[in-house]
Amino acid sequence: MKASSLCFLSAVVFVIAGMIWGLVMAISEDHSAAPAHAHLNLLGWVSLFLFGIYYRLRPSLERDKGALTQIWIWIAGTVVQAVGVSLVHTGTPSGVPLAAGGSFVVLVAMLLFARLVFLGERADARAGAASSLAG
Ligand code: HEM
Ligand code: HEM
Repeated sequence: MKASSLCFLSAVVFVIAGMIWGLVMAISEDHSAAPAHAHLNLLGWVSLFLFGIYYRLRPSLERDKGALTQIWIWIAGTVVQAVGVSLVHTGTPSGVPLAAGGSFVVLVAMLLFARLVFLGERADARAGAASSLAG
């Protein structure tokens, strides 16, 4: 599957889950898990969709193993963090290792993404400089 497609598909699955979770919180009038809901939506919907747009803009990354790995690590970290933060905020302190572990995993995935962005933008800058020299 293309990197951008994986991002878009997983993002819509996350936002449907996140919206249902939001509705459950609103209807039950129990907002204690709000930080977990917030991050599920922000990491799972907003961030993944943004990754997808970047990958769609960079066709050379669409079949790149590093990009696909980055996305799967992000998805796993997002799920683990959501479970952990939700446990912590609903009175189960043993969720702390999951919350912390998931957070470090998404950080690692963001560093991998940052590397791809830096390499891609640098390659563009070099190509631009070479073509202006040739011109
Ligand atoms: C059907 C859709 C949704 C419903 C019913 C819903 C419901 C809620 C509820 C009840 C809270 C707790 C508010 C509080 O206690 O202050 C909340 C918090 C939050 N939600 Fe949603 N939500 C929905 C979708 C989304 C989406 C799509 C996003 C992000 C793109 C999002 C981001 C947040 C954030 C960031 C917070 C934390 C706000 C804060 O701490 O002040 N929500 N949501
Ligand atoms: C490793 C990743 C992250 C960690 C560990 C983290 C941690 C936290 C913590 C501890 C809070 C305070 C929650 C509270 O007071 O109950 C918070 C709030 C918030 N974070 Fe994050 N965050 C992360 C990533 C992000 C990202 C990527 C976004 C946006 C795209 C984001 C948006 C927010 C927002 C809007 C709030 C305020 C809403 C709320 O209280 O839930 N966070 N975050």
